[in-house]
Amino acid sequence: MLQIQGLTKQFGTVRAVDGVTLSVPPGQMVGVIGRSGAGKSTMLRLINRLEDPTEGRVLFGDLDVSALKGRGLRGWRARCAMIFQQFNLVGRLDVLGNVLLGRSYAVATPRALLKLWAEQDKAIALSALEQFDMGLLAAQRADTLSGGQQQRVAIARALVQQPDVILADEPIASLDPRNTRTVMDALRRINQELGITVLCNLHDLDIAKAYCDRLVGMAAGKVVFDGRPESLTESEAHELYGLEAGEVIDLPMPVQVPAHVASARLADRRAASAH
Ligand SMILES: Nc1ncnc2c1ncn2[C@@H]1O[C@H](COP(=O)(O)OP(=O)(O)OP(=O)(O)O)[C@@H](O)[C@H]1O
Ligand SMILES: [Mg+2]
Repeated sequence: MLQIQGLTKQFGTVRAVDGVTLSVPPGQMVGVIGRSGAGKSTMLRLINRLEDPTEGRVLFGDLDVSALKGRGLRGWRARCAMIFQQFNLVGRLDVLGNVLLGRSYAVATPRALLKLWAEQDKAIALSALEQFDMGLLAAQRADTLSGGQQQRVAIARALVQQPDVILADEPIASLDPRNTRTVMDALRRINQELGITVLCNLHDLDIAKAYCDRLVGMAAGKVVFDGRPESLTESEAHELYGLEAGEVIDLPMPVQVPAHVASARLADRRAASAH
């Protein structure tokens, strides 16, 4: 269980994250939504310890993440992989080399620095790529790939860290609708098949509703909505995005709920109504 307790981050006079308390059970896929500047990225960065909190703390099981230093902190960052909007690949390295960077958390540092990868690490990296139909591109330089392909490499790199949690900060913001679905499908699959907890910042409300088990809505650093996607009312959504009544949320295009998500939802609803 990931527990966020009274988490606060102050930058000068701005409270980017303001007293956030959340419990995220293992294996949940959480969509963090809200308008620009709401504090979504800062919250993920506090969980990963790219930022230190002004107040409050993050716990993962018995581990007090906020108190970690040195090797302990490095260990936490391995268990809590990050995915970014801009993919953050090493362009001049080939695809396999990029995925292997995720293994550097798991192997001794000198070996990782010298890129003396064991065959076993290479096999793990290749199998991660194959899961996302990227095996044939293993030897290609990362900077020759499309955005959607690059993001799938970034997801494979996160996966070979064997993380408990994946934090994805606007992973689809630079992608077209088709690649958006491929990347969200990849995240949903590793969430469902491997039970990895996913926290995903998303601008697009329809995508968040289609893929996530739970939505956390943030405004001015605070959690103002926390619940199942279907329980978010239109007026709450409008409030969250700071729109006046009558304004329309600008969505690039309607999104089909993927079949596997739709059938899981249906099964959930049936189970809920059976009680
Ligand atoms: N390093 C920083 N120094 C100063 N202010 C910061 C810093 N990082 C974030 N902020 C401020 O904190 C607030 C929250 O920013 P954050 O990036 O977390 O929002 P966000 O919800 O991710 O927005 P977006 O949807 O645009 O990515 C904003 O007012 C931002 O300007
Ligand atoms: Mg952000």
